Amino acid sequence: AYLGIDLGTSGLRALLVDADGVPLASAERHYDVAHPHSGWSEQDPADWIAALDGAVEELRANCPEFAGLRGIGVAGHMHGATLLDASDAVLRPCILWNDTRSHAEAARLDVADDVRALSGNIVFPGFTAPKLDWVRAHEPEVFDRVAKVLLPAAYLNLYLTGDHVADMSDSAGTSWLDVGARDWSDRLLDAGHMRRDQMPRLVEGAAEAGRLRESLCSKWGLKGPVSVAGGAGDNAAAACGIGALAEGDGFVSLGTSGVLLAARDGYRPAPDTALHTFCHAVPGQWYQMGVMLSATDSLNWLARIAGCKPADLTAGLGPDLQTPGPVRFLPYLSGERTPHNDAEIRGAFTGLAAGSDRDDLTRAVLEGVAFGLRDSFEALRATGARLDSLIAIGGGTASAYWLRLIATVLGVPLRRPEGGEFGAALGAARLGMVAATGTDAGEVMTRPALGDAIDPDPGMRDAFDDAYAAFRAAYPAIKAVQ
Ligand code: XUL
Repeated sequence: AYLGIDLGTSGLRALLVDADGVPLASAERHYDVAHPHSGWSEQDPADWIAALDGAVEELRANCPEFAGLRGIGVAGHMHGATLLDASDAVLRPCILWNDTRSHAEAARLDVADDVRALSGNIVFPGFTAPKLDWVRAHEPEVFDRVAKVLLPAAYLNLYLTGDHVADMSDSAGTSWLDVGARDWSDRLLDAGHMRRDQMPRLVEGAAEAGRLRESLCSKWGLKGPVSVAGGAGDNAAAACGIGALAEGDGFVSLGTSGVLLAARDGYRPAPDTALHTFCHAVPGQWYQMGVMLSATDSLNWLARIAGCKPADLTAGLGPDLQTPGPVRFLPYLSGERTPHNDAEIRGAFTGLAAGSDRDDLTRAVLEGVAFGLRDSFEALRATGARLDSLIAIGGGTASAYWLRLIATVLGVPLRRPEGGEFGAALGAARLGMVAATGTDAGEVMTRPALGDAIDPDPGMRDAFDDAYAAFRAAYPAIKAVQ
């Protein structure tokens, strides 16, 4: 059997699959995010370890196949900075991907010579390098003791193998990696006041990073040897989980944040568009994605205000797609990455009338998120990415209305995985399997069975194009008054 671990922002999921990659059982443990100040977002790495141990105990108890474990892969929420001293003790809570305290450091690094050219990306405030620069300025006694910086997934790799080792896809989100060359960049490290010896060893995501430590083998009742893969950032792992490895493959993910991802055969950075260009978890491949920060988060926000559940809001719209209403919503509740790279901008409704009701606002929110995804879609297309159809994943895909709307706004059919979705955990398990067996990644990372296509409504395309134009025009106007 093989184990995929998805270290998420709100919890950890462990998925056990059999030798054919078919899910056997999964276990979850939740933990908190601390917000000690506005814009701060931190986690205690000890909570991740406790969650992993708890989830593994549950799998062991329920699943005899666990005893035959051969490979493990870890997927993690990206960009987090776990700081270790020379004895691998954690120096301070991990600063997470959605922490924006280092926006000034990010802006400074972003314009430094060669930084965008080598890292292939804007230095977003959530990325790792500006976090370390913040620690240097504000917690110098911590900074001076930093012997290693590990991303969350790499911290679990350390727990599992005893070695400092990270994969390319996750490391691409640090702003220290030369993303085209797939190696740490001395120039980028220098710009961020870091050294190569503070970085983990790099391996490809599907390569063997090490073996499960003796002590864990005996604690978990395993004979061994058990391979541990390099692992992946969560989006690359999700792509592995749905077989999106090559040009033409992609997904739209409706989670807390919204992601539109396209696998790429080559390295074609486009930082000016605010797209993210990262190494894929398989060798010789990259991926590009647009990230919007508030997707289901926007609908959850409206549901909170309206005092109901998100599903009640979407149910109110009925099954049939309606032409865009007069109310527009800008989904920038937490600022935006793609296409604006604007941490300060906030959301807005426009076009409210005396008669606007809850359904009008719901439609506006769903449309605003769909238009935000279209921004990413246009940016991806401008780089030459081909997206003829997309797999739709994430909690927001429970709304058929939203899917039909997004298909129409993007002008491409969407298809959902049939029989449930295992996302990044399945991708991670597949990485563990490739690392343990040496099987070709393409053979393991296949497409799941997909449901019927949700097609765009051609009769509504023009109306949604006009509404999208109005959405585009609203950002600079709102920006001017905030
Ligand atoms: C990607 C990003 C998020 C995190 C959280 O750049 O910040 O998708 O990986 O899951």
